[in-house]
Amino acid sequence: ENSDYFTVDEKIIDRIFKPRKDFSHKGTYGKVIIAGGSYGKIGAVVLATRSSLKTGAGLTFTLAPRCGYEVLQISCPEAMFIEGGAEYIEHFKAEDNTVYGIGPGLGTHAETEKGLLEFLKEYDAPLVLDADALNIISKNHNNLKLIPERSVITPHPKEFERLFGSTENSFDRLNLAREKASELNIYIVLKDHHTQIITPEGIVFYNITGNAGLAKGGSGDILTGILTSLLAQEYSEEEAGILGVWLHGRAADLASEKYSKESMLPTGVINTFGSVFEELN
Ligand code: APR
Ligand code: MG
Repeated sequence: ENSDYFTVDEKIIDRIFKPRKDFSHKGTYGKVIIAGGSYGKIGAVVLATRSSLKTGAGLTFTLAPRCGYEVLQISCPEAMFIEGGAEYIEHFKAEDNTVYGIGPGLGTHAETEKGLLEFLKEYDAPLVLDADALNIISKNHNNLKLIPERSVITPHPKEFERLFGSTENSFDRLNLAREKASELNIYIVLKDHHTQIITPEGIVFYNITGNAGLAKGGSGDILTGILTSLLAQEYSEEEAGILGVWLHGRAADLASEKYSKESMLPTGVINTFGSVFEELN
């Protein structure tokens, strides 16, 4: 049992982290599409997009409804906009050589649900699924089979329960997560005070960075941006999960020292990524 369970420490992180190469160009660092946002929840997709930009992806696109167009172009000028609908996304266009991160602020409108399920039926490369993408999948047990193998899903405890059912305690929840990760051949990032990354082989990586300053709307959205960006940079799913969750928490710890747990915001956590990369380089 012990060899299946690791606490994420600096040694593991140093082994995973790859410094940027001198002889490289934006194509070296991959293409991301962050898909999400709906009227009143454009902020979620702004945060995920900024987070992808600030963790090194070569090119970042945002697939969002038209009502988010100006906000996104102004708040994330380095990202490109793909329109998916008017006030919520209705169609998800499948692009090659791209890593998708889907869910922040997406909403669960019937047209969005239809569009997402149709997209997943056709699409089979690993992607990141979060928030309302998971809530849509939860509506029907058969939808679980549509998740592409080797994908990374990032449920908080409530989303996990909607997907896989309730458990008595966190020990049972972890075992259920291991069972489902193996059955579906996916990675489960079980978000909590100490987030766990569960691989299809049943290995659990236990993260200890992060703090209660993250207990605010938007903190999960920035994790989605990080994970999608790292996958686009050709970290494996396991590496992206471990490094991404650790980096998110480490940035939060630095942000809390500077701003306090009360006042730190997800935006401030994104602005602290740079200090974490300085520590790693
Ligand atoms: N200690 C350490 N980390 C924490 C703590 C804590 N006390 N509280 C939260 N976190 C971390 C979690 O580990 C996770 O990485 O902050 C993040 C919170 O993610 P979510 O629960 O997904 O919250 P967030 O995405 O910001 O919530 C807004 O998500 O649930 C959906 O649809 C919902 O739109 C909503 C959106
Ligand atoms: Mg969330």
